[in-house]
Amino acid sequence: MATEELVLKITGLKTNFYTYEGVVLALDGVELFLRRGDTMGLVGETGCGKSVTARSILRLVEPPGKIEEGEIIFFDSDKESGEITPVDLLQLHPEEMLHVRGKKISIVFQDPATFPNPVFRIGTQIAESVMLHQDLSREVVEMKIGELRSSITHDTPEERRSQIEEKIRHYEQQLVEPPEPDDKDKKKAAHIIATEMLKLVKMPSPSSVMMQYPHELSGGMRQRALIAMALVSNPNILICDEATTALDVTVQAQVLNLLNELKKEIGTSIIIITHDMGVVAETCNWVSVMYAGTTVESCATVDLFANPIHPYTAGLLTAVPKLHDTRERFPQIRGTVPNLITPPSGCRFHPRCDYCTEICKKEKPELKEHRPGHWVACHNPLS
Ligand SMILES: Nc1ncnc2c1ncn2[C@@H]1O[C@H](COP(=O)(O)OP(=O)(O)OP(=O)(O)O)[C@@H](O)[C@H]1O
Ligand SMILES: [Mg+2]
Repeated sequence: MATEELVLKITGLKTNFYTYEGVVLALDGVELFLRRGDTMGLVGETGCGKSVTARSILRLVEPPGKIEEGEIIFFDSDKESGEITPVDLLQLHPEEMLHVRGKKISIVFQDPATFPNPVFRIGTQIAESVMLHQDLSREVVEMKIGELRSSITHDTPEERRSQIEEKIRHYEQQLVEPPEPDDKDKKKAAHIIATEMLKLVKMPSPSSVMMQYPHELSGGMRQRALIAMALVSNPNILICDEATTALDVTVQAQVLNLLNELKKEIGTSIIIITHDMGVVAETCNWVSVMYAGTTVESCATVDLFANPIHPYTAGLLTAVPKLHDTRERFPQIRGTVPNLITPPSGCRFHPRCDYCTEICKKEKPELKEHRPGHWVACHNPLS
């Protein structure tokens, strides 16, 4: 994988939770890479470590959790020069991390009910986020020019018209080096941008939604508002952690399709965390499969569905439900998900695997490029 294509590369990520019952070895050497402009599905059964991986990327793992080892390289690209600087997020000073979290890498969490603040209007919350992330000097000047332009009508007297045009010229000169705007102007500009963000996520009646409170919106609308907020900072990476499972399937498909459309417009790379292989098939061009805190397979989505190589993935795919299917999301694979305080030795999947041999019990398989563009961690790959 050529590094100039990458926006994120995780190697050997280990995260543990130090609980009273023992040490939960939650992530045991997760390997992931995300290419610029890709939508990657991160899939696996409940408890396999998808959310802990997302939290580790953003350094949001809280005690008793601790990131123990690994590298999370973020390939930061300068929007103007296009220059790419790799940074290991795990080595960043907490303060430097603040410039990454919510700005360069945004996350939309599992439950759309958790809008940041239930007591403020949607518009106020998105506008706050705009003020936090954007330098509004230029927008304020543009807003003033816009207001002046629209104040000219066909019955504006000639003298008044030339006064207004003179003011417009004055502001146009300021566009080169806009002055620091005052708070009132900033708030007004932030409101205009917030409304634009709601339009971008195809929110119905954006102006009235601006005035509403989170509880007044439907789940799907709340989800759109959350995505709008996450996109305010124009992030390089957007992570959606099961953002859509609380929604009904049609709304879910709409929101995910919206994300893919937006991706083309704003050039954000996306990670969609889900249990649902149907969602992956419909919306992701790349997929990484996790099992019990490890990455077991990673490849193009079409390749995964056509030729799964890891026995676990093959098991998952034997009965992929369609997006509108109400059956259990995951087909049954014999046995149960292991306890991560005492995980199986070697390959963590070996006790459930029909292809298990002696080496599987002893040695953890490495994630390797088994075929061009298709990575798998298995001692006995299926093809
Ligand atoms: N605060 C915590 N304390 C102890 N163990 C934890 C904690 N948070 C997560 N874990 C453990 O880490 C492992 C991975 O959990 P994680 O939440 O990442 O799973 P997931 O793949 O996101 O599951 P789901 O699909 O249900 O969201 C689990 O075994 C879980 O029990
Ligand atoms: Mg989760």
